[in-house]
Amino acid sequence: TLRLAVLASGRGSNLQAILDAIDAGTLDADVVGVWSDRSDAQALVRARDAGIPARAVRPRDFADRAAHDAALFDAIDAAAPDLIVCAGYMRLIGAAVLEMRAGQLVNIHPSLLPAFKGLHTHQRVLDAGVAEHGCSVHFVTAELDGGPVIAQARVPVLAGDDASTLAGRVLAREHPLLLETLRRIASGRVCWHEEGVHADGR
Ligand code: GAR
Repeated sequence: TLRLAVLASGRGSNLQAILDAIDAGTLDADVVGVWSDRSDAQALVRARDAGIPARAVRPRDFADRAAHDAALFDAIDAAAPDLIVCAGYMRLIGAAVLEMRAGQLVNIHPSLLPAFKGLHTHQRVLDAGVAEHGCSVHFVTAELDGGPVIAQARVPVLAGDDASTLAGRVLAREHPLLLETLRRIASGRVCWHEEGVHADGR
């Protein structure tokens, strides 16, 4: 049983997908805690509703990024997770905490990395006029959205799309992609390997 810590800044639909899969018995994991940088994150409510410890660690309560990261990751470490899942966590994590946690964090990002790193991906995809979009799950490194990609799902960009319709089409693929990736990690079918991903080839 994989012990998961989840980081989320907002709505928490990816967290909910994890909780629902655990409930349904389709993901062999426990969520040992949920952390947010925002005290108003819906993700914290979803966690508490599921009886899971949930806490906001707000950047403004700390002197700098290093101090915030240290407090956040001390709290996470105390829960002894096997894996930390960034599920809509919208804050950069400093290199210092990441360097000693290679292969211990994954992130879901709403683009086909390495294309469209960063924020506002759906609008940027529309502005660029590309035909295809999607989402990626990758190991987190100090390079923003730059760590090794584990899995991706693709969706078409359709005539008449706006950022909201496109985001909805991508989100519908995010949840199963994240779950499938967590299943693969839980069963040892994918793991961090030096500067890449060691996978079973699926
Ligand atoms: C998701 O679309 C996720 O891919 C994205 O935020 C959304 C969170 O939704 N993440 C990022 O943009 C990371 N930079 P959720 O809170 O409902 O899971």
